[in-house]
Amino acid sequence: MKDTEPSYTAFMLAVSQVLLHTHPEERNRRLVNDEMATMSQWFVDECAHQTADPKFDASQYTVESVNQDYTNLVQVDILRKHVFEKNIRKAIADGATQVVILGGGFDTLVMRLRKHFPEVQFFEIDHPSTSVVKKAVIEKKKAEYPDIDGPNAHYIAADFEKTSLKELLEKEKSFKPDSKTAFMAEGVLFYLRESTVRGILTDINTLGGLGSQVIVETLDAINSSAQDQQLAADVASVGEDQRWALDPAQAKRFFEMYGLSTRDVNDHRDRQVGFATDAEMASVRQQEGAKTYTLELTSKLGRLSHYERPDRTAAWDASR
Ligand SMILES: C[S@@+](CC[C@H](N)C(=O)[O-])C[C@H]1O[C@@H](n2cnc3c(N)ncnc32)[C@H](O)[C@@H]1O
Repeated sequence: MKDTEPSYTAFMLAVSQVLLHTHPEERNRRLVNDEMATMSQWFVDECAHQTADPKFDASQYTVESVNQDYTNLVQVDILRKHVFEKNIRKAIADGATQVVILGGGFDTLVMRLRKHFPEVQFFEIDHPSTSVVKKAVIEKKKAEYPDIDGPNAHYIAADFEKTSLKELLEKEKSFKPDSKTAFMAEGVLFYLRESTVRGILTDINTLGGLGSQVIVETLDAINSSAQDQQLAADVASVGEDQRWALDPAQAKRFFEMYGLSTRDVNDHRDRQVGFATDAEMASVRQQEGAKTYTLELTSKLGRLSHYERPDRTAAWDASR
């Protein structure tokens, strides 16, 4: 992450939503509702200077490049938003009283959902370079759109590589440890070191109540396809290197170490259900190189969590 500029990938996700919402084809427009598009436009305007970054290949972010069968990067990333939101809404319906969003970027979920669930506390954490910009935009817009902010929306500026999730949430007066919570990390964990990801999962185990839901996206492997290699090179060029991947064959066991049982695994093909035509579904690749796991906190590690905290993977990280 660059310390001085907001996340480029968060910015491009805002760009993607505006692009799809105004696309000539209805099948693309319906991926982004009016509220998502209006709010995303605020961040596009705020960070417009970033589009001038000569290092980033923006060739996939054009009307022509998304004019195809939901396999363009723009479409893939925004379909992912539907999976996350569906899971968060379900977790709330199932009794979650808190939502914790890791690396929220310029996502609009808290601004849109908080008014519908006033009894739910939303905590969104992001790197200071992005969080500060997001908060400034919200401050600017809330006179005109008062619903976007309120006492149940909490924005926390922090670098996960420097401060633990536990430390951050324990400082929040409205955060209630051991309550049923929905944690989500959309397009975030693969930018972190493995030891940081393990620390986050340990903290989720410590802080969440049994029955908490955890929705995370992981890469199956770093640079697993030509498209991924290009993307990895692009995002590394703007300071966001991919650092961590999770072999799907190991995933269930990996999450179990943190008391998390796998309830659902979603890949790019699954994300298209309800959007793509039957003919398109028939030709879509099963594997996209990334997965969204829906996990449930089914056992607490207790004292073991303190034992897990020492940086067992420091040597692994040092070799990266
Ligand atoms: C691809 S964007 C995803 C944004 C958002 N989750 C979404 O899907 O719209 C990645 C986000 O992770 C955040 N991030 C990356 N490394 C981080 C770190 N070390 N600490 C905190 N946030 C980080 C970035 O600031 C950025 O907002």
